[in-house]
Amino acid sequence: MGGNDTTPNDRDEGDAEDSAPSADTGIDLDELSIDDLDGDPSDLADSADPSNSTDSPDSTDSTDSTDSTRTANADESAAVDPSESDTPQGGLFDDLLSGEPIFENKDVLRPSYTPDQLPHRQDQINDMATILVGALRGETPSNILIYGKTGTGKTASAKFVSNELETTSQKYDVPCEVEYINCEVTDTQYRVLAQLANTFIEANERYIESRLASLRGLKERATGGQATLDDTTDESTDTTESTDIAEGTDAVESTDTAGNVEETGETGETEDAANADGDESAHFADEADFDSIAAVENRIDELEADLDAFEPVPMTGWPTDRVYSTFFDAVDYHERVVVIMLDEIDKLVEKSGDDTLYNLSRMNSELDNSRVSIMGISNDLKFTEFLDPRVKSSLGEEEIVFPPYDATQLRDILAARADIAFEPDSLTEDVIPLCAAFAAQEHGDARRALDLLRTAGELAERGQTERVGEDHVRQAQEKIEIDRVVEVVRTLPTQSKVVLFAVILLERNGAQNINTGEVYNIYRRLCDEIDADVLTQRRVTDLISELDMLGIVNAVVVSKGRYGRTKEMNLSVPIDETEAVLTSDSRLGDIEDVQPFVQARFDS
Ligand SMILES: Nc1ncnc2c1ncn2[C@@H]1O[C@H](COP(=O)(O)OP(=O)(O)OP(=O)(O)O)[C@@H](O)[C@H]1O
Ligand SMILES: [Mg+2]
Repeated sequence: MGGNDTTPNDRDEGDAEDSAPSADTGIDLDELSIDDLDGDPSDLADSADPSNSTDSPDSTDSTDSTDSTRTANADESAAVDPSESDTPQGGLFDDLLSGEPIFENKDVLRPSYTPDQLPHRQDQINDMATILVGALRGETPSNILIYGKTGTGKTASAKFVSNELETTSQKYDVPCEVEYINCEVTDTQYRVLAQLANTFIEANERYIESRLASLRGLKERATGGQATLDDTTDESTDTTESTDIAEGTDAVESTDTAGNVEETGETGETEDAANADGDESAHFADEADFDSIAAVENRIDELEADLDAFEPVPMTGWPTDRVYSTFFDAVDYHERVVVIMLDEIDKLVEKSGDDTLYNLSRMNSELDNSRVSIMGISNDLKFTEFLDPRVKSSLGEEEIVFPPYDATQLRDILAARADIAFEPDSLTEDVIPLCAAFAAQEHGDARRALDLLRTAGELAERGQTERVGEDHVRQAQEKIEIDRVVEVVRTLPTQSKVVLFAVILLERNGAQNINTGEVYNIYRRLCDEIDADVLTQRRVTDLISELDMLGIVNAVVVSKGRYGRTKEMNLSVPIDETEAVLTSDSRLGDIEDVQPFVQARFDS
């Protein structure tokens, strides 16, 4: 497989932000041992100085590099830069347009973009290719399980390999198809099987349409009053358009996918799966040697009947075994090797057990014409514990691990993206190392690194500075962290929100190392106030543990000697933003005067 000549894949992925608790945001550059952060500090000063942004060119900044950027952008900015015109009063957008553009193509930094180069993933990509190459030889590749933490390039690499595989199979006319499914979106057995069934029904329809076109052409050329194809062969030799029918027959053969040609050899005796009426002429193998127009017509009728018989699976409503058999028949309609990529496979197992995987992994023993191979991708290393041992061993025939990136690797990844995403010289030299360091410190997550870089760029753009600087990266880190907290808190169940609100009220009133009993007292009163069920203290303790796991509070168990043990906690997220999210919930927002509840702390 060629390594570099792939085209970017634009299939959408349902990218799930990782919600793992992050480290503190107050990261200090000095602690990070970043060797090339020793850039000229004046760069930082320049970039952080907002007065530069609206200055006319050349007035303050005299570095060569910045000047050359300006020259390069002169034409573009002239078109939109109101500071160049003599309009005294700027419109709503004029100010925003007045700065130099920072981004050349921001989309390159978004998760939906699939890069055509994946630095530091060559080993994993080669491993996948070595296993999957069998598909191009008509063999069944081993199933593969891909593991790795979030943002380690699993999806990007799988899509890259999938593109390459499909491109190569088209190049050599080998019947191999790859189907990518994101199980976070398609998360039940019904949906997975329905999506697969409908994809293969569509593929079969295209396949039949193209065969019908060839056969109808053949028939048209053959009918000229002649009864047999042999006769027409002679008659038509003098027409340049249709040449002779022998060639026409060849054309049928050659427009056929390689699958059919091979099928002649391998499954010549097999009944067409979608045509189980016992009719010998249903064999594709027969198509190359029609000996009469009637035979061609027969074949056309059969294919038309097949086409009519395909029934797409509705989004809901069928019994699962009907969906399964529809998918099964669609895949087995003709010979091919099918690679099914199940991304976020753990989500499927979590939501609907391992039935889907069980069914898919034992299909091959029943398929006549086609072969199925599964590639599962997961960032949850533990999900296989929930699998039936047979599924587990079948799925994990081959395992490929994607290790986290270190800061140096992240720098390479960011640098390659930044080249396309930003205007030349828009980044001060410490921006990429700092983004890489932050992301490496978290858990080697390239998505986080790219988010940081994009957000830093957006903040610089918003602040109308000319270059992205270290400060923007720090602000971006803080913003991303707050966004994460807001999202986590917003989606908490009401009971957890009430518990968290109790913690916030206590902290607002100066409490520290708050214990479970204190939280419970206030929680109870809040529940009364908003008419919510009051859970037991034990349940509330569980909810506190969940908040702890989400990184919202930091709880430690402390021993109180003969009084037993209790949890003491502190809020570990910014209090203002968190409270704002809680009170934006209509139920909690209705509580007007919280003081009496806080007083309850001292009643306990
Ligand atoms: N080696 C790499 N080179 C360039 N970009 C990369 C590389 N690895 C990851 N990325 C980019 O980082 C982002 C996250 O990668 P990807 O979606 O493949 O992660 P993942 O391992 O599938 O994570 P998750 O487990 O959360 O799904 C994507 O935008 C991807 O393009
Ligand atoms: Mg992924």
